[in-house]
Amino acid sequence: GAPVEVDLSKLQPGEKMTVEWQGKPVWVLRRTPEMLAVLKEGADKLVDPESQAAQQPAYVKGIERAINPEYFVCIGICTHLGCSPSDKLKAGAESGMGAEWKGGFLCPCHGSQFDLAGRVFKAMPAPTNLVIPPHTYLSETRLLIG
Ligand code: FES
Repeated sequence: GAPVEVDLSKLQPGEKMTVEWQGKPVWVLRRTPEMLAVLKEGADKLVDPESQAAQQPAYVKGIERAINPEYFVCIGICTHLGCSPSDKLKAGAESGMGAEWKGGFLCPCHGSQFDLAGRVFKAMPAPTNLVIPPHTYLSETRLLIG
């Protein structure tokens, strides 16, 4: 399929947009400094904190799993059986996830939980972190997926 160009100029900090690429939903989450800070905590709760077993391009490295850490780009399909996880972006009870929740995603099918870098928590049905598609930036606010 053809690459898809995405205009990020209207995406506000803390917001997520979804675009379609190759028939799949691709998420772009603009992470706030608070959201990025959370990624540094609690590696022991994650299956693969450094995403060594994750399907992602080689240029996406580290705990942020991004070219520009502010923008998290990933395929919004659960690595268990392919449902689309729901946004639980806000920390704490406001997300309906309990006071300990730091923000992330919840798969409605069998309850897999992912953090704000799509990293799966331990003891979940999903075996691996969410997949990151090939992408590049044409400018600061123009993203090309594919
Ligand atoms: Fe997501 Fe099963 S498909 S937990």
